[in-house]
Amino acid sequence: MATADECFIFTDHFFEAVHSQEPVAGYTHSFYRYPARFSPLFARAIIKTFSQPGDLVFDPFMGGGTSLVEARALGRIVIGSDINKLSVFISKVKTTVFSKNELTQVRLWAESIIDGLKLNNPPVRAVGWLEKGYQRNISGKVTWPIRKTIELALNHLPELPSRRLQNLARCALLRTSQWALDCRRDIPAAQQFRQQFLIYTDEIIKGAWDFTNAVKGSDRVHSLSGSRRVLCLHRSAVGIETDERVKGYPVPTLILTSPPYPGVHVLYHRWQVQGRRETPAPYWIANSLDGNGASFYTFGHREQKDLTGYFEKAFAAFSSLSKIAGRETILVQLVGFSDPSWQLPKFLSVLEMAGFTEVQFPALANSSDGRLWRCIPNRKWYADQRGAIAASKEVVLFHRLS
Ligand SMILES: C[S@@+](CC[C@H](N)C(=O)[O-])C[C@H]1O[C@@H](n2cnc3c(N)ncnc32)[C@H](O)[C@@H]1O
Repeated sequence: MATADECFIFTDHFFEAVHSQEPVAGYTHSFYRYPARFSPLFARAIIKTFSQPGDLVFDPFMGGGTSLVEARALGRIVIGSDINKLSVFISKVKTTVFSKNELTQVRLWAESIIDGLKLNNPPVRAVGWLEKGYQRNISGKVTWPIRKTIELALNHLPELPSRRLQNLARCALLRTSQWALDCRRDIPAAQQFRQQFLIYTDEIIKGAWDFTNAVKGSDRVHSLSGSRRVLCLHRSAVGIETDERVKGYPVPTLILTSPPYPGVHVLYHRWQVQGRRETPAPYWIANSLDGNGASFYTFGHREQKDLTGYFEKAFAAFSSLSKIAGRETILVQLVGFSDPSWQLPKFLSVLEMAGFTEVQFPALANSSDGRLWRCIPNRKWYADQRGAIAASKEVVLFHRLS
């Protein structure tokens, strides 16, 4: 391990941002509540400190795309990858720049369809999705009105003139459906769903407009132009160095990410309806196929002995990252553990074997181990519910190539 001698400036604002427990908000961050997502303030503080406008920021486990949104708004070039199609759908929409006219069209569309979402309209069954099981656990006594409303709304999407706008509208519907179905006991009535759909549509339009203005503003200030400024890849971090699509991009200045957490169960690909009944409905709404089990998204099952599979996957992924990093690249990660006492040393040794050395910034340390730890409130539902205090604390790790 090395102690950094570089002169990065850590302002008071940096410390506040890193420890901030404010709810996730701003830009396009509220489009979807992706599990285990970054605080945008944390991502912003790291990006501002460790990269410059025009630099490449890469997030190999982009999830809900928090780091991509923040980096793009700050005038960086961004690449993200994830094996979850839902992550790719959300990240793409969240980093899209829209015109005022396009956003107005989505608002008018939402208003125009609202009467057509009432339950007395004839149903439009999404037969293909139904047959493939994507409506599992959402056709019960209290959930069917929500399912029917979603089906009716999706049926109106072709009235929007482009795929971009249809995807933005899908996001509004995804957000509303998540609000109505995921992790809540009392399912709202269809009428409440319709009202909330308009509220979220407005919120999403405002977020998309704020993001668009931020991007345009920072590109203007830093004289950046060109379309290849955001790349969201549906792929594994393993093997990323051989992907033709990333060739031609500069070496990343900053790799900012949060990999799956050792021993921590996070449900990235399902909503939990009325307790623990899981539904893959978000994939239906996002028009993306899934077909994987939970462990596919978490580097393996959390009950594996010694987390052997987890650490093998982590080794493969970080070995690939070491091949796209350069001497100047800094890797910043936020990682939580179900048992840091042995998992953190093991995680660090895997990073070392993959070609990365830990760097510590004494000015940032808030613990006797010389590292920066963050408390994570409200992480209960998705964390392991059988007693472990999974990921109530996360560590910020800094690495450079060995
Ligand atoms: C902790 S989440 C990232 C959350 C993200 N920082 C955010 O703000 O939303 C970890 C992500 O890693 C993804 N993932 C798991 N294995 C992967 C792999 N081999 N390659 C790329 N992504 C992977 C999961 O699908 C999940 O979205």
